[in-house]
Amino acid sequence: MKPGAQLVVVANRLPVKQIPDPDNAADFVWGVSPGGLVAALTPSLASYDDVAWVGWTGHIGVEMTERFRHDNMELIPVALTEDEKELHYDGMSNGTFWPLYHDKVRAPEFHRTWWDGYKLINRRFAEAVADAAAPNARVWIHDYQLQLVAGLLRETRPDLRVGFFLHIPFPPPELFNQLPWRTEITSALLDNDVVGFQTPDDAENFSRLAVGLGLASSEGKWALSADGRSIEVRAFPIGIDEETVAYKAKQHGVTTGASDLRAQLGNPRVVMLGVDRLDYTKGIDVRLRAFGELLAEGKLSSHDATMIQVAEPSRDKVNAYVDLRERVERLVGAINGAHGRLGFPVVHYLHQSRPFEDLLALYRAADVMLVTPFRDGMNLVAKEYVASRPDESGVLVLSEFAGAATELTDAVIVNPYDLNGLKAAIMSAVNMDPAEGRHRMRALQATVRHNDAVTWARSFLAALDAT
Ligand code: F6P
Repeated sequence: MKPGAQLVVVANRLPVKQIPDPDNAADFVWGVSPGGLVAALTPSLASYDDVAWVGWTGHIGVEMTERFRHDNMELIPVALTEDEKELHYDGMSNGTFWPLYHDKVRAPEFHRTWWDGYKLINRRFAEAVADAAAPNARVWIHDYQLQLVAGLLRETRPDLRVGFFLHIPFPPPELFNQLPWRTEITSALLDNDVVGFQTPDDAENFSRLAVGLGLASSEGKWALSADGRSIEVRAFPIGIDEETVAYKAKQHGVTTGASDLRAQLGNPRVVMLGVDRLDYTKGIDVRLRAFGELLAEGKLSSHDATMIQVAEPSRDKVNAYVDLRERVERLVGAINGAHGRLGFPVVHYLHQSRPFEDLLALYRAADVMLVTPFRDGMNLVAKEYVASRPDESGVLVLSEFAGAATELTDAVIVNPYDLNGLKAAIMSAVNMDPAEGRHRMRALQATVRHNDAVTWARSFLAALDAT
């Protein structure tokens, strides 16, 4: 066996992705990959030596296949053809697992061709991992796109210690059991030594499923036994790099960026903000409707309230995302048409991916942060907002269906399915007594600081070492 890395991380995307070079359309440059997975994992791996990261480049035609170094890690690209991307990424991952695992907010589709593509690509990732890992190395598999990798590794590299972390929710068996391939997925997940989830509820859903399907038996609250092996199954709530976010948020450029922004908006009394991937799970439409109704009822006025919605383009080949974009843009147009003034739209909508420094300026400029998903694994935007408020001002409105609500109990917690409740929550955030706001923000900051990205990664890897 040839030498390899001591820790191999495997995720659908590499931490950087190929994006078109603005100066040369035929070429590409590297940009940061989207999503909470990369935001949390990249800083948490900084203190580990000898790490390889296996992932897809999100290619744009100039396919990169050679290994390269980045941020002290060896990056190992896995290439996908357009057809394979359609089956594995657009199809099985984002047309089946994503909606199924998010409470069926949209109907999942079950297609045998997608499943075949999913198996093929999982095998390709598993082969890349087997090739990259040193004898007895640790392998850390991430997310729903790669649920079969552990099963395949157990056949070819039984020497490896293998753990899996799911960044999105895990549904109750009553939903999961609709999946035609429920046994294959559950068995492959049981081939890990540790299976980690965002919340205790997610972990319990998985244990209940595995026992219910007769594939494992319970070994106490957070452990299962299958094929004579013990598997740790529990929550490892993901965090952010709180120290860096808090530090960057205090820098001069960010502070002046935030006050310039407020000035550009006409210095309204209240700036509300949403920052999400443009995804139907995030409840962007429901928060726009709530804002629109509050304006129509005169509870808020366009002279003193402004909303900014950053919606990062996402999964634009999947129909449900195309429909959502149309719906959100129609709502933004309708609200601005009814309530905007010349030169002063009341909703500022950016369908763009913004650099993190710009997001920090937005976080600093926002009095009320709206995080209202119908279902979300954790939601790190909520934690980033909290970490970027050095003066302890600002109110977080947070959906009870985000994993973050388990920890961030001092936010204004809402049910996004209850429009009147959401409107009332927005008004209570807008009118919150500053002393109460500071009290809540201080408590939220302590929570985010205590359970940061490094703590998350260390506790997962310690659990893996202990197996
Ligand atoms: O955390 C969920 C997740 O799907 C990650 O796996 C992914 O990297 C991120 O969101 C962004 O999604 P996508 O890779 O589909 O753009």
